[in-house]
Amino acid sequence: MRVLVTGHRGYIGSPLVERLKLAGHEVVGVDIELYEDCTFGGNKDSGIATINRDIREVSRGDLEGVDAIAHLAGICNDPLGDLLPETTYDINHAATVRLAEIAKASGVRRFVFSSSCSVYGAAGQEWIDEHSEPRPITPYGMSKWRAEIDLRQLADARFSPVFLRSATAYGFSPRIRFDLVLNNLTAHAFTSGKVLLKSDGMSWRPIVHIEDIGRAFVAALEAPVETVVCPHGGGPPVCWCRPPLPGLLLAFARARDVDPSRSTLVGTSAAHRTLAETVGARFVEPT
Ligand SMILES: NC(=O)c1ccc[n+]([C@@H]2O[C@H](COP(=O)([O-])OP(=O)(O)OC[C@H]3O[C@@H](n4cnc5c(N)ncnc54)[C@H](O)[C@@H]3O)[C@@H](O)[C@H]2O)c1
Repeated sequence: MRVLVTGHRGYIGSPLVERLKLAGHEVVGVDIELYEDCTFGGNKDSGIATINRDIREVSRGDLEGVDAIAHLAGICNDPLGDLLPETTYDINHAATVRLAEIAKASGVRRFVFSSSCSVYGAAGQEWIDEHSEPRPITPYGMSKWRAEIDLRQLADARFSPVFLRSATAYGFSPRIRFDLVLNNLTAHAFTSGKVLLKSDGMSWRPIVHIEDIGRAFVAALEAPVETVVCPHGGGPPVCWCRPPLPGLLLAFARARDVDPSRSTLVGTSAAHRTLAETVGARFVEPT
């Protein structure tokens, strides 16, 4: 297949391009290179045809011969969404729907949209899956949910939109994002020997490895149309945050909501125990 990947120079897009090439697909990328100067570990050129254009300006000519689109470009986090809500809606919602409309008119058959588990928003403590009611609370989550609603209207026998509501990604990419929780914790542990939690240690969140997202994209791009039965796509893999590796110190930021008495410090030395006692945290030795 000829697959167009938007946001192919981003965190998820970069390894996805390599995975698609390995699967034998011809790949074309669209990106405005917002993170041109943020390459981690060498700037390896993927060697694919690239359209340096804002997705808001993609035209029918850009989609000639394209069989499927993996749509990842966008404003990709809550802080940016809160800072620039109008731009976030413009790119993540309006431009996504416009791109899908042009794609459908151009004969593209599959449109895999990188949605987000942020659409679930205020889900509280309940377990949720793809049948749960979305309740987005941030402009980022809202923009993804609005895009899903409108994309669904375009579905028919010739055009099948698929939504992947990925959890927070982690893992290596040449455009690595250290703002993502597990990458951030790992980088801090690697550089300082401490895992720094900016909460009280009781929070949890769904996470997914970046290569598993890549596998899901390839599967969703290749799946025969009769197997695309649920317009919501699959539920995000969920896992609990676990205590850190033995030998690493678990520290807590002095934020307002930190409650050390509800926290656990995993340590291997008398110094760790003293630190736990000082901040009032529970101390455990790794098993
Ligand atoms: N990383 C995660 O944890 C995660 C989780 C769930 C969903 N998602 C979604 O997956 C997608 C990719 O996420 P990411 O982490 O790779 O983000 P990223 O910010 O690393 O990459 C986004 C890419 O899109 C490009 N881009 C942004 N606006 C554009 C525009 N208007 N026109 C053309 N290119 C543009 C940027 O230059 C960048 O290369 C996003 O849609 C994001 O919302 C990401």
